Amino acid sequence: MNYQDYLYKIKDLLITNDAKIVAHYYVDELVQQLAEDTGGFVSDSLEMARYGMQQNESTLIVAGVKFMGETAKILNPDKKIFMPDMDATCSLDLGCDYSEFKYFCDQHPDREVVVYANTSAKVKSIADWVVTSSIALPLVEHLTSMGKKIIWAPDKYLGNYILDQTGADMILWDGSCIVHEEYKTIELKKLKELYPESDILVHPESPRSIIQLADVVGSTTQLIEASKKSNKKYIIVATEKGIFYQMKKLSPDKIFMEAPTEGEGATCKSCGRCPWMNMNSLDKILNVFNSNTNEIKLSHDTILKAKKSIDRMISFRDNKIINKAS
Ligand code: 13P
Ligand code: SF4
Repeated sequence: MNYQDYLYKIKDLLITNDAKIVAHYYVDELVQQLAEDTGGFVSDSLEMARYGMQQNESTLIVAGVKFMGETAKILNPDKKIFMPDMDATCSLDLGCDYSEFKYFCDQHPDREVVVYANTSAKVKSIADWVVTSSIALPLVEHLTSMGKKIIWAPDKYLGNYILDQTGADMILWDGSCIVHEEYKTIELKKLKELYPESDILVHPESPRSIIQLADVVGSTTQLIEASKKSNKKYIIVATEKGIFYQMKKLSPDKIFMEAPTEGEGATCKSCGRCPWMNMNSLDKILNVFNSNTNEIKLSHDTILKAKKSIDRMISFRDNKIINKAS
């Protein structure tokens, strides 16, 4: 089947099931295109979470990874949330086991617990705050200005970036993203030498030595905006390559390059491609309602507890926007 065949069939399926597709910028470009062509939404993890709350449809198909589906369920407990592949997870989520993390938090009862959105619903349920990469820095600045000490989990690289920027009193969980930790510093320097007229855009899940070479550090949405604003012809990008679909659409005349993942010590577990984001496909979306194993189910108790810390993030984000406007 070609793309048009999928589009025709899936449009029909969405109407029959009163559903919309919400996709992340990292999924395959055909899946992003499908979300757009069927009246759905493509964005970063924070806006994906907010989007579902504004929709009337009873069902959402979350084309991303499991923590995104769980967040959609927590914020929309009355909606049915489906995922094209329930095995699509994230190395940060896998690296932060609920019981171990609870034990860690219990050792530091004087600290505010801030967890990245890339965690399970159970981990979120014991957090004071949930953050995404777009809101982590201002939130930690805010907590620090109130004299709070922080536990940060699970991404040590993002944690170190925030620490470097804010000087916050933070202790870090030892997790990492298998995609971003593969970028290679020496090779990135060499690429910059070859293309001095370039901007380097970096997601803050990358190691410190990569962040130090960046012209812009930011969430996926912030990097897409930076690629559009840049007056350079060449844009080097250190984040999952699914993002090029949106960047190229906005700036068809620019030349986009992947930050290198090959070089000394390379493992190429990912080579710039998230194996879990990549499990989303047109075929799996077409078959998403065919079995009853693709629906996100969470206990009422977990939803209630995790919702508190996600709601706090959303109202912090909304207040910041209101304050900026006034
Ligand atoms: P964003 O919050 O920037 O969309 O990132 C999500 C993610 O999984 C990055 O690897
Ligand atoms: Fe997780 Fe990294 Fe994949 Fe994002 S790119 S979902 S952080 S493994």
